[in-house]
Amino acid sequence: MQIKQITQNKKQFLPLLLLGDEQESMIDRYLERGDLFALYDPDCKTICVVTKEGPGIYEIKNIATSPHAQRQGYGQKMVQFVLNYYQPWAHTFLVGTGDSPLTLSFYQKCGFQVSHRIPNFFINHYDHAIYENGKQLIDMVYLKKELSAQK
Ligand SMILES: CC(C)(COP(=O)(O)OP(=O)(O)OC[C@H]1O[C@@H](n2cnc3c(N)ncnc32)[C@H](O)[C@@H]1OP(=O)(O)O)[C@@H](O)C(=O)NCCC(=O)NCCS
Repeated sequence: MQIKQITQNKKQFLPLLLLGDEQESMIDRYLERGDLFALYDPDCKTICVVTKEGPGIYEIKNIATSPHAQRQGYGQKMVQFVLNYYQPWAHTFLVGTGDSPLTLSFYQKCGFQVSHRIPNFFINHYDHAIYENGKQLIDMVYLKKELSAQK
């Protein structure tokens, strides 16, 4: 298993990016300025996009594991990798997600804690209703993880 940073032709991963964030125009807001990582074992199982949001503040904008490879630990390995990768510069990691038990339990398992909400984010920013497991996503739920290293 290896994780590589992808700097060229990031849109080759569009099918997986759309699994994590189903509107391409929203992906276009962060893909170029973000760092894209891909986990291979031996083919690509998981992708993740991380942006810098301020001094020492980084955000996971997108993470997705291929449907056939889910629940095998790849997502958690990817989160551990990016937390380690940014450790020298980061004091805080953020992630925003829909109010869905699946993704909330995933991030909580990765050590994130619920921080705050952006009401109506999915209504205001997406051109169609987004559903996860039959439930419409309305608010963006932000989770946070403080990194302990001294900066
Ligand atoms: C969220 C996602 C990235 C998790 O990736 P993954 O590789 O399946 O995750 P892991 O196998 O590392 O799971 C780690 C833990 O997260 C939790 N988890 C993962 N999938 C879960 C599910 N379907 N239901 C409940 N908990 C889940 C579990 O606690 C799991 O640990 P366990 O298997 O030991 O119980 C994956 O489900 C996915 O790609 N979903 C679609 C895209 C998406 O919603 N992305 C997030 C929004 S940006």
